[in-house]
Amino acid sequence: GSMASGLRKNPTFATLNLDDVNYFKGILGEKNVIQDEDRLATANVDWMHKYKGSSKLLLRPTCTEEVSQILKYCNSRRLAVVPQGGNTGLVGGSVPVFDEVVVNLGSMDKIISFDKVSGILVCEAGSILENLDAFLANEGFIMPLDLGAKGSCHIGGNVSTNAGGLRMIRYGSLHGNVLGLEAVLANGTVLDMLGTLRKDNTGYDLKQLFIGSEGSLGIITKVSILTPPRLFSTNLAFLACNDFFSCQKLLLEAKRKLGEVLSAFEFLDSQSMEMVLAHLDGTRNPLPSSLYRFYVLIETTGSDPSYDREKLEAFLLQSMEGGLICDGAVAQDTNQSSSFWHIREGLPEALSKAGTVYKYDLSLPVEKMYGLVEEMRLRLGQSAKVVGYGHLGDGNLHLNISTPEYDDSVLRKIEPFVYEWTSKHKGSISAEHGLGLMKANEIHYSKSPETVQLMASIKKLLDPNCILNPYKVLPQSVLH
Ligand code: FAD
Ligand code: MLT
Ligand code: ZN
Repeated sequence: GSMASGLRKNPTFATLNLDDVNYFKGILGEKNVIQDEDRLATANVDWMHKYKGSSKLLLRPTCTEEVSQILKYCNSRRLAVVPQGGNTGLVGGSVPVFDEVVVNLGSMDKIISFDKVSGILVCEAGSILENLDAFLANEGFIMPLDLGAKGSCHIGGNVSTNAGGLRMIRYGSLHGNVLGLEAVLANGTVLDMLGTLRKDNTGYDLKQLFIGSEGSLGIITKVSILTPPRLFSTNLAFLACNDFFSCQKLLLEAKRKLGEVLSAFEFLDSQSMEMVLAHLDGTRNPLPSSLYRFYVLIETTGSDPSYDREKLEAFLLQSMEGGLICDGAVAQDTNQSSSFWHIREGLPEALSKAGTVYKYDLSLPVEKMYGLVEEMRLRLGQSAKVVGYGHLGDGNLHLNISTPEYDDSVLRKIEPFVYEWTSKHKGSISAEHGLGLMKANEIHYSKSPETVQLMASIKKLLDPNCILNPYKVLPQSVLH
């Protein structure tokens, strides 16, 4: 693969042959054993078109039993496997590095049950996030997570990456919302951990191991998830701040004064705004009078429209008088709120249209966060555009560097500097996207050697032949 330079195919892995293909046809039927070049091309390349594998086989199981049979066979034959959901991952985790077999869960998208009293949804892992949310809308509930990739990403992919997204500040992480899982281990064993209980302290909570394991410990086939009631009073404000310190203070104030209704707190800088306006058709700045340095989106969600609106307006007035915000608009209808959200959610797409993007997803103390963006601008000068946005309410910065074409010298100015800086400030080199292929070798910037060793032991216990998503998450050196 293009970004796999420096990696060699693990010599213990077998190469696919005709008998293998026929065996899979026996389990799955002809039409779910895919060798068609166009479909393979799609499965081999990631959303950013940055990582390319050369798999010769795409499998589309339709039930847990088929996943189990596939893995049991691959394990016995030492055929490496890449679990794949909606393939929207941003760290090269969802595509093969060499000729791994791709197992895509897209045909496993059934809703299994929904309990209207508790709000607990049980579904297959290949269910698309937006479809689940649409199903819940009819029942008066909402998915506890939302992200720009909702139209393609699978709940199984979300759980496997422990995706954060736009609602995390309100509903918390998947480590709390996922109540149960069904997963298939490398040897084909089906682990039934599909509980539907809020509370269950009977021994080790093994499902947590699979949340955020990026396909390296097993294939998730079913998910049980707690969903909150859908509240109908939503307000969205698009605000401008003159400096980053004001954004921080605004966050603190919003937590204090909007606490129980606050449902999102996102930020973007003026360079992000320019990126969106230049590359996404039909977008315009909601605050067109001038280009401000920072923009903040504050969303509130509650149950009393007039009370919620008053509360937000009082907060905005106070923040304006106190000088924390210098301009702002409150969405007047759903069209306007979609267009506000489109600016924030469209950033990954805008960047990807602008050329090559060097993408970093960092957890940092909020007060340090923007210092990195500014240092990066100084380091790179005119050679690249440096863009900062993210989930400010969760301490998560998306630092993106954009050049018209890939440039090795730019990359060398960014890495390892960005990882060292993050580590020095006790941050995390992956807040929500995972390590994938991109950062498998960088794990030590965020985890101690003893911790990485224990991870390697767990990996070898659950997947002794290391067939599941090889070259991802952990450095090769701790596994072999
Ligand atoms: P894939 O990309 O297919 O896979 C991701 C990883 O999970 C891979 O390692 C894969 O092997 C593994 N995997 C997938 N399915 C399974 C399974 N059933 N069992 C075991 N392993 C599996 N992430 C955030 O956290 N927050 C965001 O706000 C956010 N916004 C995004 C916006 C856009 C426009 C895009 C393109 C991506 C965004 N992402 C975000 C990144 C990405 O992590 C999420 O889109 C999503 O969680 C990935 O789901 P997926 O089904 O596409 O998984
Ligand atoms: C986002 O918050 O927009 C996503 O995590 C994607 C990205 O970082 O570009
Ligand atoms: Zn994000």
